[in-house]
Amino acid sequence: MNPLLTVEDLVVEFKISKAKFRTPDGVSFTVMENECVGFVGESGSGKSVTALAIMGLVPKPQGRILRGRIIFDGTDLLKVDEHPRGKKISMVFQNPLNSLNPNMKIGKQLTEVLEEHYGISHKQAIEKVVEIMKQLQIADPEEMVKRYPFEYSGGMRQRVMIAMAMLCEPKLLIADEPTTALDVTIQAQIIQLFKQLKSQSKTSILFISHDLSVISQIADRIIVMYAGKICEISPMKELFEKPLHPYTAGLISSIPDMKERKTRLKSIEGNVPSLIDPPSGCRFHPRCQQRMKKCVESEPPLFSIKGRQVKCWLYEGVED
Ligand SMILES: Nc1ncnc2c1ncn2[C@@H]1O[C@H](COP(=O)(O)OP(=O)(O)O)[C@@H](O)[C@H]1O
Ligand SMILES: [Mg+2]
Repeated sequence: MNPLLTVEDLVVEFKISKAKFRTPDGVSFTVMENECVGFVGESGSGKSVTALAIMGLVPKPQGRILRGRIIFDGTDLLKVDEHPRGKKISMVFQNPLNSLNPNMKIGKQLTEVLEEHYGISHKQAIEKVVEIMKQLQIADPEEMVKRYPFEYSGGMRQRVMIAMAMLCEPKLLIADEPTTALDVTIQAQIIQLFKQLKSQSKTSILFISHDLSVISQIADRIIVMYAGKICEISPMKELFEKPLHPYTAGLISSIPDMKERKTRLKSIEGNVPSLIDPPSGCRFHPRCQQRMKKCVESEPPLFSIKGRQVKCWLYEGVED
């Protein structure tokens, strides 16, 4: 497998009135061809900003990319004249209503994408849209294309967004909390849909969620983020069998156990730190039960252990 996306030492800086902070703060990771990478971490850890940086959509003027490289399909996206968003890279957001035009019929919004990118006729575009809607299990697509976004349910709108993102057969699909706004049953259907996409298309997926139980249903590999930094990268199976980072272990133990619903949820004590004045050393140290003196004093590097990476002093000296 070849890398499709390589992010190297990416730093985004925000300036809000007099405050300055960085998130993501020096993250590096890859997404391979045909791979589904899960991106997890509590709200505010910098997942969405990382996704927006890849899309070339860091919110301006507050935010700017301070340094780093984003190599996609052989080119550095921070240096290209024309960003491949909407073509080779597409994105699905948490709230589909923000991305759909409320005044335009769904069919028209979808066919416009196709007519623009492929220069095909309206009739051909409609046929393709109906076909992809069928694949995404939107019932009665010939009728549904004539409706407006408000006539769709939340789950159906999210299906339309996925359809729209997949129309141009992107190499990379970034899904940022695509199920977070939906109720549990609809959430399960949308995850099912992503699984289907994963098995039927060659598109790589970067699937972002604050919810590790959602990620666990779809990802091949998982990146765990905390306060702007990556703390662990592991294949999914190993991550659950033996989480390396204490934060990952905390995230896993706060997933409700299906078999033992009655057991009380353990949450990680404490709060996500301020990014403006982050803790010294390891940013997780104030919440870490295995904290050592060193963790307060200096920031650990990412140690490599058997194809996994972990940013924690516990693994110093045991790395490959
Ligand atoms: N448009 C913005 N303007 C100002 N600050 C922002 C903006 N977007 C994100 N941030 C800051 O970056 C931090 C990380 O945000 P985000 O990437 O959205 O986190 P996540 O997706 O992991 O929940 C936020 O806590 C916020 O302070
Ligand atoms: Mg987010």
